[in-house]
Amino acid sequence: MPKITIDGKTIDLPAGATILQAAQALGIYIPRYCYHPALSVSGTCRMCAVEVDKAPKLQIACATEIADGMIARTDTAAVKKARKDVLEFLLANHPVDCPICDQAGECSLQDYYMDYGLHKSRVAPEDKIQRSKHRAAGRYLVLDNERCILCTRCVRFCDEVTKTNELTVSGRSDASFIDIREGKSLDNDYSLNIAELCPVGAFTSRDFRFKQRVWFLKRIKSVCTGCAAGCNIEVHYNENTVYRLMPSPNPETNTWLCDRGRMTYKALQAGDRLRKAFVKKGSMEIEPAIRHAAHLLDEAARKTGPESVVVLGSPYLSIEDNLALAELAATSLKTSNLCLDFPREQGVKDGILINKDDAPDANGLKLLKARYAGLDQGALIELINSGRIKLIVAEARALSSLKEKLRELSNIETVILAVTKSDLDFESACVLPYAANFETEGHFVNYKGLLQKTTPSVAAPDGVKPLWTVLSKLSSCTGAPIRLEDAAELRERISEFIK
Ligand code: SF4
Ligand code: SF4
Ligand code: FES
Repeated sequence: MPKITIDGKTIDLPAGATILQAAQALGIYIPRYCYHPALSVSGTCRMCAVEVDKAPKLQIACATEIADGMIARTDTAAVKKARKDVLEFLLANHPVDCPICDQAGECSLQDYYMDYGLHKSRVAPEDKIQRSKHRAAGRYLVLDNERCILCTRCVRFCDEVTKTNELTVSGRSDASFIDIREGKSLDNDYSLNIAELCPVGAFTSRDFRFKQRVWFLKRIKSVCTGCAAGCNIEVHYNENTVYRLMPSPNPETNTWLCDRGRMTYKALQAGDRLRKAFVKKGSMEIEPAIRHAAHLLDEAARKTGPESVVVLGSPYLSIEDNLALAELAATSLKTSNLCLDFPREQGVKDGILINKDDAPDANGLKLLKARYAGLDQGALIELINSGRIKLIVAEARALSSLKEKLRELSNIETVILAVTKSDLDFESACVLPYAANFETEGHFVNYKGLLQKTTPSVAAPDGVKPLWTVLSKLSSCTGAPIRLEDAAELRERISEFIK
């Protein structure tokens, strides 16, 4: 393997590695704009220039492969001058509207100017070339051409990752600008990644614009539950409000995030978020509604026996919540009518990330099915359609997924568990709200069998609790508690599934 020495430190790496990669492996940071580890190398910005022994002039580290015995330096006067000159060139026509730019605080132009630039502009503001500002670019993005440094990361993303080719560089020389190709709209399923990989504030997210200065944001790692991919995310939040989701790259799951996944946090603040329970369409405090649900369960069991009640698990719920549902059926209601069988077609749908299965935990549900067995889906549908069932306890989306197979539900009462009203697809005698995945810890198994957990970043609305807590209270009200009183107890109970 070729051996290279950078700033006095030596490393050997496989042939084909670049000076920038070698420096990174040695813990030496080389500034860059156009380089992105998940895109092809374009070598357009020249910010990564370094000195290489025996080379007549500076070389760009992102595009220069290492050679055995190579010696490079990243901290010489010539390198520092080159960085300063590149910055002066990039900023010559830049509007420097940092006070109103969303990228402020995480902008490489700002950061590198402070680290390497600190030059006085030789171009007066009135002489700067003006370009279009705040141009709508698809559903989620805004493009400000004046701020663009023409690194072409956005163009390469659309060409190489989504392969939708919406963007191009139009014009020549200092009249060049990023443009949307004629007849195209920047609406691919991954468009918000462009706002993230743009190193300056040229592409910004319409959703995040002007909502929060980035230095106020706190960050916590979690998992997207928008589909079975189980993408790793970083939740950016402040004062009990989530502002955006960013990828937390993991070679086993994701480099990017899809737009739908990035928007999953919207359910937290949605106008149809359930903050109270509903009983016969009337709003009710949650505790009395739980007692009402227990009464419905008691009545059904008293009149027609426990086998007139069905409990459904859900591929949309965490292992914790499904365990509580299984325990409710087995321990509390003593019905054998438990269904944990939700077969789903899984696999990457678009060759990038999005999974055919929009539920995050069908594989976690299988772990519980191995332990609790229960009805398969065919038997469940037959049973419900037979008319022998008087009451169903189910998470809203799991019940909706059966809708087409169910003939008639109007003579069956339901206790439905939901986060938002839009999840509800059925009239229900009782709707109980529960905490969303950003508000509670929960384990999920993605389509590859990877066990991961969500981390709470914000608190649920007053009185709204994790679903396993709601079900534990419900079981206590029926007189046969499943005893999931606190997180320690829960962890102990699910330990056999999350080894
Ligand atoms: S819009 Fe952003 S990502 Fe695209 S070329 Fe300009 S600076 Fe680079
Ligand atoms: S692909 Fe699935 S898990 Fe990944 S961000 Fe999109 S919805 Fe979330
Ligand atoms: S990062 Fe190397 S030329 Fe842009």
